[in-house]
Amino acid sequence: MEFLFHVVVFAFVFHACFAAPSVYQVGVGIADVTGPAADINMMGYAQPKQKSAGIHTRQYSRTFIIEDGTNRVVFVSVDCALMDQVIKTEVVNRLEVKFPGIYSHKNVVLSGTHTHSGPGGYLQYVLFLVTSKGWVQQSFDALVDGIVKSIETAHGNMQDANIYYSQDILVDANINRSPASYLNNPAPERAKYTYNTDKDMIQLKFVSTNTGESIGIINWYAVHCTSMNNTNPFISSDNKGYAGLLFESAVNGADIMPGKGPFVAAFASSNLGDVSPNTMGAKCIDTGLPCDFVSSTCNGRTQKCIAFGPGKDMVDSTRIIGEKQFQKAWGMYEKDNSELEALEGPVQFAHQFVNMPNYTVEIDDPVTGPTMTKLCKPAMGYSFAAGTTDGPGAFDFTQGTTSENSFWNLVGSALVKPSEEVKKCHSPKPVLLSTGEISWPYDWHPSIVETQVLRIGQLLIAAVPGEFTTMAGRRFREALNSEASNNGGGSNIKTVIAGLSNVYTHYVTTFEEYQVQRYEGASTIYGPHTLSAHLDQYKKLTRSIFKNEALSDPGPSPPFLLDKQISLVPGVVFDKPGFGRKFGDCVVQPYPFVKPNEIVTATFVAGHPRNNLMLENTFMNVEAKQVDGSWKVIRTDAHFDTFFFWERTSGVGQSEAHLRWIVPADTPEGEYRISHFGYYKNINASIVSYNGTTQSFMVGSQ
Ligand SMILES: *[C@@H]1O[C@H](CO)[C@@H](O)[C@H](O)[C@H]1NC(C)=O
Ligand SMILES: *[C@@H]1O[C@H](CO)[C@@H](O)[C@H](O)[C@H]1NC(C)=O
Ligand SMILES: *[C@@H]1O[C@H](CO)[C@@H](O)[C@H](O)[C@H]1NC(C)=O
Ligand SMILES: *[C@@H]1O[C@H](CO)[C@@H](O)[C@H](O)[C@H]1NC(C)=O
Repeated sequence: MEFLFHVVVFAFVFHACFAAPSVYQVGVGIADVTGPAADINMMGYAQPKQKSAGIHTRQYSRTFIIEDGTNRVVFVSVDCALMDQVIKTEVVNRLEVKFPGIYSHKNVVLSGTHTHSGPGGYLQYVLFLVTSKGWVQQSFDALVDGIVKSIETAHGNMQDANIYYSQDILVDANINRSPASYLNNPAPERAKYTYNTDKDMIQLKFVSTNTGESIGIINWYAVHCTSMNNTNPFISSDNKGYAGLLFESAVNGADIMPGKGPFVAAFASSNLGDVSPNTMGAKCIDTGLPCDFVSSTCNGRTQKCIAFGPGKDMVDSTRIIGEKQFQKAWGMYEKDNSELEALEGPVQFAHQFVNMPNYTVEIDDPVTGPTMTKLCKPAMGYSFAAGTTDGPGAFDFTQGTTSENSFWNLVGSALVKPSEEVKKCHSPKPVLLSTGEISWPYDWHPSIVETQVLRIGQLLIAAVPGEFTTMAGRRFREALNSEASNNGGGSNIKTVIAGLSNVYTHYVTTFEEYQVQRYEGASTIYGPHTLSAHLDQYKKLTRSIFKNEALSDPGPSPPFLLDKQISLVPGVVFDKPGFGRKFGDCVVQPYPFVKPNEIVTATFVAGHPRNNLMLENTFMNVEAKQVDGSWKVIRTDAHFDTFFFWERTSGVGQSEAHLRWIVPADTPEGEYRISHFGYYKNINASIVSYNGTTQSFMVGSQ
């Protein structure tokens, strides 16, 4: 009797906390978006020397479609540095052809994970193409095709599902890389928080109501994907991509190859502006001493002040920061659904294009009182060229026409001295590049940006076009939560920031951080009041959602510059195997006996990886011999313990593939072999597939 009483009370209390979960229709999808694995500059560090030469982990697009029976929203997290208008517009255009009337700019969010190890050249504005020597069609195609494919997959498997929200704290996977800027925020505001970065991890768990099985998660945690540094030649989805692979493998089973299982786990970006995964912090690499606190320099130079991750090298750091995110997320996932907060309420969205330099917002000026203030034309400050402690800058701005970069030689002459108007507007930023005042050969920076909020029950997903810093993000979430409550949204509304969404406008710092003009402030491109304008605009979007009043004005259309792009990256001319060799010949065989934790290597005569990107495919396999004598694929080039490295050799058109497998500790004893797959381009320019396999080798006991 007493037992029964408790159950009744518990059930009552429980019900009071969490009302019955809404049933939504949810679809999930994943597709390969890995760009060209050779010769293409990696997007992120702006380091011209950092070019792709193989694959560590593949890049994926992960899609979640959520509908409440009336409205539908799409959230896509993509393993790439940042989203760009040309990608968003092309994806929407293709969806409008395939599924007329269902998907548009308004209900689709594309958010980049911010990996700094993905091939570039897919962004439409000039500044983003300098280090990649212009446009790279293959990078663009891989992203657009894969994003659309992942959306089609999700569209095709919509099913009834509950959505559970959870939140936890992960303390030791991020640090603030610009504490000098953060400290310029008001002391009473800082006193509200324990840490100078957000340690909160937010997760949505999607559970099919038909089967009771989970079909996916979206996880948000603020940290840069800069565990792999600016010397890394391997395509990598960095720490967030690895966390996703671990999660998917844990649910789908280790026998399912990466990117092939039904369960999809996205580790998406948030307000990571000043947040680094390099938790050992920065030091001077020559002396080992701390860098200068305010300028992050050693002896006046930025190149020597570098931050390091917790691992013994960058791959190990990627593993550690990825595992920490995965383990925390897994703990949240494994909780019983009854312990989680079910999302309840409608699906809605609000979207508007905004001409940012034209945005006028009321600023409470301490001297003059409330004043209407206009944002600025985009411009970059001097500290932008210095880069950050995650990757000191190498951007080749000052050398004009003597540069070795052909694209820079072409466009650099268009640089203009900043006008007085721009200098004044951006003050105290010393303007290095007045990108808003140049439009030759076409726009250097976006002026029209997308602003967008999705609502799923009590959760708001604010898709922002850039990198908000920690404190900018805190102000932003607080403002949206109270705007929602003030307009009938109740008291349990929560906002999550989906970073690097739709179009890239660099950083958004607080006004106070801006005054310090470190990298993040120098890269806040619309001037000191950029955050105020975003607060104002996103509050407007939030109001329109909770008042259920659609915005009548869609805003000005953004430019679509696909036809104007200039590419100066040479293509593959031809491949030659070299005298007495064939493509796919294994020229260095693996050692015949290895133990767990040792490394197996093999070298093959290769074709150029740009002949075929091997999307949804692989440049290498590890196979294990089965009892019946057949071979089973146990690894592809997308696994964390395999590496495909491509290298040009001395002869004209000749190259080799170096394959590596770090044999995991739990590998069963037995016979194994490694295969390489690729395409070569012959002298007649036809592209031909080839493959090759090593002799088998034994994995023995430890
Ligand atoms: C990158 O990481 C490697 C270790 O993996 C290290 O040797 C190197 O110094 C790092 N370089 C930079 C620029 O951070
Ligand atoms: C800028 O704002 C003014 C005033 O609201 C408006 O008249 C003008 O058309 C806007 N210009 C652009 C390019 O959006
Ligand atoms: C290439 O062209 C030559 C001459 O035109 C021809 O003899 C040869 O068969 C072609 N090779 C291939 C692989 O297509
Ligand atoms: C490997 O190459 C051989 C010979 O060209 C071909 O028959 C076979 O189908 C290829 N295997 C794979 C898996 O591509």
